[in-house]
Amino acid sequence: MKQADIIIVGSGIAAMQLARTLHSDYHVIIITKSVKQNSNSYMAQGGIAAAVSKEDHFILHYEDTLKAGRRHQNLDEVLRLVKEAPDIIQTLKEAGINFDHNSRGDVSLGMEGAHSRKRIVHCGGDATGKNIMDGLFSNLPENIQIIENEMAIELLINEDGVCYGIKSKNTKTQAVSAFQAQHTILASGGIGGLYSFSSNHSTVKGDGLALAYLAGAKLRNLEFVQFHPTLLYVNGKTKGLISEAVRGEGAVLRTSDGSLLMEGVHPLKDLAPRHIVAQKIYESRQNGKEVYLDIRMIANFAVRFPTITAICEKEKISIIDGKIPVAPGCHFMMGGIAADSFGRTSVPNLYAIGETAETGVHGANRLASNSLLEGLVFGKRLGMFLNGIPRQRHSNKQNVKLPFVPKPLPTIEQVQQRMMEGAGIWRSEKGLKELSSWIHSFGIDLDRTGNIEQLDTGEIEIIYMLIAAKLIVQSALLRKESRGGHYRLDFPNESKYWENQFIVHENQGVSV
Ligand code: SIN
Repeated sequence: MKQADIIIVGSGIAAMQLARTLHSDYHVIIITKSVKQNSNSYMAQGGIAAAVSKEDHFILHYEDTLKAGRRHQNLDEVLRLVKEAPDIIQTLKEAGINFDHNSRGDVSLGMEGAHSRKRIVHCGGDATGKNIMDGLFSNLPENIQIIENEMAIELLINEDGVCYGIKSKNTKTQAVSAFQAQHTILASGGIGGLYSFSSNHSTVKGDGLALAYLAGAKLRNLEFVQFHPTLLYVNGKTKGLISEAVRGEGAVLRTSDGSLLMEGVHPLKDLAPRHIVAQKIYESRQNGKEVYLDIRMIANFAVRFPTITAICEKEKISIIDGKIPVAPGCHFMMGGIAADSFGRTSVPNLYAIGETAETGVHGANRLASNSLLEGLVFGKRLGMFLNGIPRQRHSNKQNVKLPFVPKPLPTIEQVQQRMMEGAGIWRSEKGLKELSSWIHSFGIDLDRTGNIEQLDTGEIEIIYMLIAAKLIVQSALLRKESRGGHYRLDFPNESKYWENQFIVHENQGVSV
């Protein structure tokens, strides 16, 4: 068994911020399923929300975050997040990150949906994630080792229920490894790859949720899935994100006949909270009217949005014509592995940070550009917390698992299609129940998957997709109301009864 002090699964912003905060005498191993740049953090366009301007205050950021999240949040956690945001930006600047500036030399602030002030700091126009992540990857201290193409397949839990590391498999050679560590951190991102329309990197498929679930950890709020309103839509497929910052610069949504889509729908019109805009576009498309973003009023579009310009050019969509065809797609999981302010989960020595965690900051719908912020804040906090913990080793006697017997599995595309139809933007009891039966029809014991190391990583990934899908569907069936990212056609309104009710999966059971 290989040894580390700290093992981190994932190479996004939360993982790298944590690794860089840890004492240099810790041996830190980061494993990532693909190459280190293949993460949602690296692809992030919009930026980081922080109340840094004179016209802004963290209390306004707090209020906007709560409004977007339909107050289904932990208010203390939200307050701490937005209060820490300006310091996080300052630290990044000191570390050499060049945020974009305007002609007066001030940090230029973008606007996004449901924000009451311009407060999105960004770099390289719309290449914020790439710029920050390249900075975090550069000059990596020697105590941090990144192992690429290594997929976590099991959390190692000893007889006392304490996590002591990870079993993994190399996605190229299929060699099995085990890593023993005092602290194990899941920073493996969200679930976008469970859906056929998605803005996420294709590697992001909910593995972290499945691993934590099988280890008996508590998971919360999984019915709340955010669909981003504007993904480039070409030939029946989505092809990448068109940042909300584009609407922040004045672009408007129009239906194929030219009428303004968001007129009369919400006072903030095109900058209404994401779930409202996504649902409206979905409704229009269901009614046979395609939707496009009219960008004709944005001067120097290619300079402000070079990444989006490149995505459009690749798909032969002309920026000059000023019409970008769009459709909504899965973007962010608000729920996740229940974790406290320091990322601690219900399993001792197992932590979760970033999108895979549910810390109470996002509620029913995440406010735009609060996700990189969350990764940076919680990565730093967990690093400082672990720096203060004395070294110790735990026994590693594990209950022996029976070999898992593979059965016919669906394809990745089948899971994605079924999730889009049954647990997508519009949900209903009928659709969710059909989807649930379909998931269970594969006969896998989704609650107690045995020793799976003899399967290849492709098969394991599909089994974990089915587990994550099952959890989302169970939660969505139970919540009989609509709130934020969870929209039920059969219960279209928010209900008083469901306020402050949390759907929790724990020890492989689900409860409210
Ligand atoms: C965007 O650029 O529209 C996405 C930003 C985010 O999800 O916070």
